[in-house]
Amino acid sequence: MRIMNFYDKDIVSIRDLNRKQIEEILEVSERMVPYAMGDKRTKCLEGRILGNLFFEPSTRTRLSFESAAHRLGIDVIDVSEMSMTSISKGETLADTIRMVDAYCDLIVLRHPHEGAARLAAKFSINPVVNAGDGAGSHPTQTLLDLFTIKRAKKKIDGLNIVLVGDLKYGRTVHSLIDALAMFGANLTFVAPESLQMPDDNMKHVKEMGANPAVTDDLTDVIRYADVLYVTRIQKERFPDPSEYNKVAGMYRIDNEMLREAKSDLVVLHPLPRVDEIAPEVDGTPHAKYFEQAFNGIPVRMALLYLILGGEGI
Ligand code: CP
Repeated sequence: MRIMNFYDKDIVSIRDLNRKQIEEILEVSERMVPYAMGDKRTKCLEGRILGNLFFEPSTRTRLSFESAAHRLGIDVIDVSEMSMTSISKGETLADTIRMVDAYCDLIVLRHPHEGAARLAAKFSINPVVNAGDGAGSHPTQTLLDLFTIKRAKKKIDGLNIVLVGDLKYGRTVHSLIDALAMFGANLTFVAPESLQMPDDNMKHVKEMGANPAVTDDLTDVIRYADVLYVTRIQKERFPDPSEYNKVAGMYRIDNEMLREAKSDLVVLHPLPRVDEIAPEVDGTPHAKYFEQAFNGIPVRMALLYLILGGEGI
C-alpha cells in the first residue's frame, strides 16, 4: 500500500515528522530488512534517479543511501567533493540545487553549513533529504537510531537513555533528542559544561514534556541506563583547536566501566568513533553500533520507497 502522506515530502528535520509518521517509517523499515540483506530482490523503483550530494566526508550515510537506492532499483548520480562541482567556480548552492534537481527525482544533501538542506528544499522541486547539515541535524540517522533501539528493546517509551560526549556540536543528538522526547524516553545528558546541549535544543525538548538530567559524570548515571548513546567529540567544528584538546578523551567506554551497567544495556554510536569506545567493547553483547550502521540501509530504503511512491513491499 502506498502511504500518501510521505509522497514527495522533504525530510529536513526530524521535526518535519510526527510520532505516527515515524512509527510508519519504522514499520516499513522492518519490511525492508530482507531486501537490505539481499535475501529478497525488488526493482520497484526502477527508472528513478537519486542525486547524492555529499559536500562533507561520509562513509555510512553516503554509502547506505547508495546501497538502499540500488536495492530498490534506483540509479544514483553523486558528487562527493564540493571542489569537483561548479561551486568551486563561484556557483551558488541554490543554482547547484536547481541543476541537480533537473537531473534526478530526489536529492540527498550533506553540507557543512547548518540550514543548507532547508535552503536546498526551497530551491528544489523534487524532495530533499537532509543527510547532515553542519552542527544542525541528521534526521535519517535519528530514524535508524530509533529503529535500532526499537529492535533491541522492543519499545522506546520509558527507557532511560543516556547521551554522552559532544552534545553541543553533535548533530545526531540534536535530532535524536527531539524524537526521544516525542516517544517519552527519559533523557540524561552527559558532557563537560562547554559541550553540553545547546539552550535552544534543551528548551525544545522541555516544551515537548521531557525533563533531561544534566551531568558531566558518566559513572554516576551509567548503572541506570537502558541505552548509552556515545558520540565523538566533533573536532572539525571547534573554532579553537586548544579548546578541543581540553575535552578530547574525556569519556572512554571500556569493559571496566560497563561492569557498572545493566546486563542488557545497549551501547550505540552513530560512528565514526575515534577513541570513545574501546575496541574490547565490540565483542560484548552491549555493542550494537555496527548493527546500527547496517540499519541505515533498511531505514533509508523505507524513506526512498515512501517518498518516491514505491509499491509492492
Ligand atoms: N553516522 C554518520 O553520519 O556517519 P558518516 O559521517 O560516515 O556518514
